[in-house]
Amino acid sequence: MSKSERELHLGLFLFATGYHPAGWRLPEGKADGAYRPDFIAEVAQKLERAKFDYFFLGDRLSSSPDMQHIFPSQMTRLEPFTMIAYVAAVTKQIGLIATANTTYAEPYHIARLTASLDHLSGGRAAWNIVTGADPTAALNFSREEHWDNARRYDYAEEFVDVVTKLWDSWEDESLPMNKESGMFADAAKVHKLHHKGDFFSVEGPLNIVRPVQGQLPLVLAGTSERGRDLGAKVANVIFTAQRSIEDGQEFYSSIKGRLPGFGRTRDEVTIMPGLVPIVGRTSEEARDIYRRMNELLVTNFDLSELSRRIGVELSPAALDDELSEEIIKSVNHDGANWIKLAQKANGREAITVRELFYYFTVTVRGHLLVVGSGKEIADLIEEWFVGEAADGFNVCPPYMPGGLDDFLELVVPELQKKGIFRKEYSGNTFRDHLGLSRPENRFQKVENA
Ligand SMILES: Cc1cc2nc3c(=O)[nH]c(=O)nc-3n(C[C@H](O)[C@H](O)[C@H](O)COP(=O)(O)O)c2cc1C
Repeated sequence: MSKSERELHLGLFLFATGYHPAGWRLPEGKADGAYRPDFIAEVAQKLERAKFDYFFLGDRLSSSPDMQHIFPSQMTRLEPFTMIAYVAAVTKQIGLIATANTTYAEPYHIARLTASLDHLSGGRAAWNIVTGADPTAALNFSREEHWDNARRYDYAEEFVDVVTKLWDSWEDESLPMNKESGMFADAAKVHKLHHKGDFFSVEGPLNIVRPVQGQLPLVLAGTSERGRDLGAKVANVIFTAQRSIEDGQEFYSSIKGRLPGFGRTRDEVTIMPGLVPIVGRTSEEARDIYRRMNELLVTNFDLSELSRRIGVELSPAALDDELSEEIIKSVNHDGANWIKLAQKANGREAITVRELFYYFTVTVRGHLLVVGSGKEIADLIEEWFVGEAADGFNVCPPYMPGGLDDFLELVVPELQKKGIFRKEYSGNTFRDHLGLSRPENRFQKVENA
């Protein structure tokens, strides 16, 4: 693969119980992985052997047992910065992404946490900037309400500006530690920010020297207009969720098209939709895993949300009837897409309302779920990659660890055979994996100008 060719990127979006809400109930599914350091280390080490770009931990700031049948993996889990520090110690090359929500934090705190992780990992840390998917988080942070989208993004934008300045506040050679002269720090290479904005007043400098990568890769996962704009302005990786190649292409070109407006080039931003791969040695084997997990879902088969989303009223009495011609003809755009994907997942056109409900329930959070052999799933990844709907995928195994093992064993070699995915890392930092050079320090740049 030459340097000028695009390279596929792969990362793991960790759901310790699996992305499928019932993945943990399979006899072979791990239920307690979130609290098992040995399990977490093993997962990260496997990914590194497979040359994945990164291991990613999301985060939420509220919880409820009501989530247990929908999103058990996000209901309770360990805090991401602590976990990433641990994973850094048991790996050597893989990129490590921790999520920090700007709405409920201070930039100085996040600058310290992220810079510390970058030093501890030898330049492998990145920050996933979120403004918060849970309105209920407000109640855990002495507030009555979650701010609206505009305020959250105004705050996030200034927040990111402050953090990235703090990372630069000590130049690379700011600690000469000269035993002869006694000069430990060179004050001329340490910069105050004097930042005074709409939300923050931060003097600086940070109390940690410049991170190994200079600037950590920034990851962003907003889908609103403000989210897309901030992503195009500052992010190096954009997470997204699309269920059709056409929607993927729309999002991809919407982001890449915004980059010149921010003085950036197309290859500075890597776009990563989520993918839930149910992989088998044959497509039949994969479908069997899919069917077994669906049958383990704890659900009362309430069809109201599905009916609302597809624009057609479905009757609970008809759960085991095949979708009629009339239903198929009357559904809206989303409904047609869901039916097509559910048909594919089941390997036949004639699917029942129950089968559509299963596919909907598992994918309603947005990510594409595909069922097939290693070759079939690798072909789909290639199609999205070549068709510029993605630069790679945020892989969300349906259950752990088997769902990940099957992907690594059956899909990754196919992608390598196609010549689109690396067999070796070309560097040791996360920026290296993303093909990004180490940026100049902004304070030095001004002085050099
Ligand atoms: C792949 C992916 C991962 C996300 N991870 C998180 C997360 O860990 N925590 C969170 O609060 N929001 C998460 N989000 C939600 C967004 O980052 C964002 O906070 C939310 O969607 C609101 O922004 P928006 O209105 O621009 O979409 C994620 C979204 C995607 C697509």
